Amino acid sequence: MKKNKAKILIFGTGEGSKKALEIIDLEKVQILAYLDNNRAKQGTVHNGVKVENPIAVDKYDYDYIVIASIYNQEITDQLLKMNVQRSKIIQLFQPKPKGVKVLVKEIYEDNMKYINILKDEYLSVYFKNYAICNMIPFDMERNKKLYNYPDYLIKGIDYVRVSTVELIAREVRERKIEGAIAELGVYKGDFSKLINDLFPDRIFYIFDTFEGFSQKDVEIEKSRNFSQAKAGHLGDTSVEIVVDKLSHKKNVVIKKGYFPQSATDLADELFSFVSIDVDLYKPTYEGLHFFIQDFPKGVIF
Ligand SMILES: C[S@@+](CC[C@H](N)C(=O)[O-])C[C@H]1O[C@@H](n2cnc3c(N)ncnc32)[C@H](O)[C@@H]1O
Repeated sequence: MKKNKAKILIFGTGEGSKKALEIIDLEKVQILAYLDNNRAKQGTVHNGVKVENPIAVDKYDYDYIVIASIYNQEITDQLLKMNVQRSKIIQLFQPKPKGVKVLVKEIYEDNMKYINILKDEYLSVYFKNYAICNMIPFDMERNKKLYNYPDYLIKGIDYVRVSTVELIAREVRERKIEGAIAELGVYKGDFSKLINDLFPDRIFYIFDTFEGFSQKDVEIEKSRNFSQAKAGHLGDTSVEIVVDKLSHKKNVVIKKGYFPQSATDLADELFSFVSIDVDLYKPTYEGLHFFIQDFPKGVIF
């Protein structure tokens, strides 16, 4: 289904407006009018579109006002004074400076603004400086490309999760917590790659059926009304797909099969870090039960 075009007003008719037309995707937007403070330009036509006095904004049913000028702040202030909502203002030529702290919600809204108006090839310029936790499921594939994070692919779209494991790895090292590492539920191994990179010298147990959800677990989901999960879901993977991704294979132990049975020979193993991500009640419960027993000082994530 084709989305409706975003309706925009472009503020500025100078050099910036030329540049704006290079990066704005005309497939995504409809330009309703230009705005300019220069009286001589008001009432003229620019690129086939009428130039208005900014006080005329209220006449228009617009989604965004795109500032196509280097005077971002001054124009933003002018628009805010005119009661234009901040969420409708797009500063085209001044993405936020590196390291700026903004709320996840703001980032999401900001990124969505750019997604809605710019050509895809220009989006990375606007995203790279302040991608924090931007899990937009319907844009996952596009985000993977845009963030282009080396190796684990997921830093950009799941920053908080990745950073948490990075911090835990540091704690485990600094506090000299002994023990093996485990991931219960690995699917295609993107997260295993990250864990393996962070704990290259530890024994790393990788637990998965590699055939997706089991019938037994799915029946429990249904009987307790927990979810509509289907047996075999997430089965489109293999040991090879996962192992191929790992940089430090020598300490990796694959535990293919149904958990907890696949762990019965590990009753005496000591673990320092375990990631449980199996989606379903039963294996999550079994995972907590199994790993917590021998977990005097470690971490479960
Ligand atoms: C959400 S995926 C894991 C995703 C992975 N942690 C990541 O971040 O890329 C859930 C995985 O749990 C596995 N799983 C679910 N129940 C299981 C069980 N009882 N025993 C072993 N693996 C199980 C599924 O096969 C699936 O691959």
